[in-house]
Amino acid sequence: MTRHFLALSDAGGDALAAMLGDAMDRKAARQGLPKGLPDPDASLGGRVLALVFEKSSTRTRVSFDIAIRQLGGSALVLDASNTQLGRGETVADTARVLSRMADAIMLRTDDHAKVEELAHYASVPVINGLTDLSHPCQIVADLQTLLEHGKALPGLEVAWLGDGNNVLNSLVEAAGLMKFNVRIGVPEGYDSDAGFIARARGGGARIDICRDAQAAVRGADVVVTDTWISMGQAHAEAKLAAMAPYQVNDALMALAKPDAVFLHCLPAHRGEEVTDTVIDGPRSAVWDEAENRIHAQKSILRWAFGQI
Ligand code: CP
Ligand code: NVA
Repeated sequence: MTRHFLALSDAGGDALAAMLGDAMDRKAARQGLPKGLPDPDASLGGRVLALVFEKSSTRTRVSFDIAIRQLGGSALVLDASNTQLGRGETVADTARVLSRMADAIMLRTDDHAKVEELAHYASVPVINGLTDLSHPCQIVADLQTLLEHGKALPGLEVAWLGDGNNVLNSLVEAAGLMKFNVRIGVPEGYDSDAGFIARARGGGARIDICRDAQAAVRGADVVVTDTWISMGQAHAEAKLAAMAPYQVNDALMALAKPDAVFLHCLPAHRGEEVTDTVIDGPRSAVWDEAENRIHAQKSILRWAFGQI
């Protein structure tokens, strides 16, 4: 069976735990090496990863490219607008062709149905590099960052502030798999996907929806936010106004535990969802989080190729 990584649940909690261990072990083992030098075992030697982008990216693009190099393979980075996909070639035919030319495909796109269709027609692993619905690769890096900062996942109290978006959906999915709790501070009308919440609750996570930002963050071990306007969304003044009370600033962070960690997938909109004082402050782990995209992608790729 071809292993696709469209959602965290495609791997499941046990595999996710193994991937996190693998990411941390490999990161530790190559400390100080030049970033483009392959790991000694070159575990995906000769493999080609096609990276297809229908949306902008800095971290996902660079981290997958560096990840596959460190595993001994190479990447092809394709801007979809310069490919025939951008001129109307079908997702199915693109899947068939890329499967003959590459060993795995990552797609960043808008409609989640496209990544599902790609996986349906591909005969090589397909990885979800962000859709409007979810961003599972990001959350693997986030969980790695929390573990590195001494936060055991079961029972962890995570506060999310702001928009109910794709990153939150994957965070909620992870909560169900890894048994931590999420308090979602979100204004009415901007809630995240109800299906993800129901499944996480079914998995034993406590997921609370708080209209009061202070209630969401009080006593939290981790505080997470993301842009209020995601890629592809219109810049709406009404939405920015509704989000304003959920800005992660010093006053809000003061309500979290003293050793709480702040995460943001980036890019940040400083002065909107987070202040400079928080993102540049002592509790921010955002640069570790960004670096960990490399180490997390490596473990995702190794899982997809059956090595984890
Ligand atoms: N966090 C993240 O996915 O960043 P990019 O959009 O730069 O890839
Ligand atoms: N929610 C953001 C995440 C960017 C990495 C977006 O979709 O634009």
